Amino acid sequence: MKFFVDTADTDAIHELNELGIVDGVTTNPSLIHKSGRGIKEVIAQIAEMVDGPVSAETVATDFETMVHEGHEVAKLGENIAIKVPLTWNGLKACKRLSGEGHMVNVTLCFSANQALLAAKAGATFVSPFIGRLDDINLDGMDLIGDIRDIYDNYGFETQILAASIRSVNHMTEAARIGADVATAPPDVIKKMAEHPLTDKGLKAFLEDWAKTGQSIL
Ligand code: E4P
Repeated sequence: MKFFVDTADTDAIHELNELGIVDGVTTNPSLIHKSGRGIKEVIAQIAEMVDGPVSAETVATDFETMVHEGHEVAKLGENIAIKVPLTWNGLKACKRLSGEGHMVNVTLCFSANQALLAAKAGATFVSPFIGRLDDINLDGMDLIGDIRDIYDNYGFETQILAASIRSVNHMTEAARIGADVATAPPDVIKKMAEHPLTDKGLKAFLEDWAKTGQSIL
């Protein structure tokens, strides 16, 4: 499973990128707002920093303007994935932009039928939002499983980009089910390294080591 970082915070991306675990980045209008920076400046910087796809979201709701915005954000780097919403106009824009050779991430996907349409429209990525389904008492992970089954039934090449990830358990489950990519906030990715038994074991080893009076260096 590829790891994308769901943030427009370039310091956080830099730290994870140094570890070599960043396969791409996703942003959205809320994350751009949180960064306090201009979309073009921040997306261009991120696209320069990472080798993989960097999703930049369009904000128009009509087809023509969405395509125009897609062309604008695509100029910000060679690795830009144009993000469009899973609306009828978004699907039309996906078809146009993917037909032109751009990577397209169809976002705000909340049903298997929506994901089926995104694949038919030539999406590079479809982004089902796990956490937001969990928020309304549905099971976001069930949707990842349904899309996996459907895409595998027909050999669709659209990649399932598990999004709206809120916990480390979401990461485990997305990987178990077979999401192609998971995009998560930096703190969730860092928490994946934590385990209380690791901390407890390390503490005991260090205490015993101190008793030996030895030094490795
Ligand atoms: C994905 O591309 C979205 O930016 C993101 O995962 C949304 O997450 P949220 O529901 O936690 O805002």
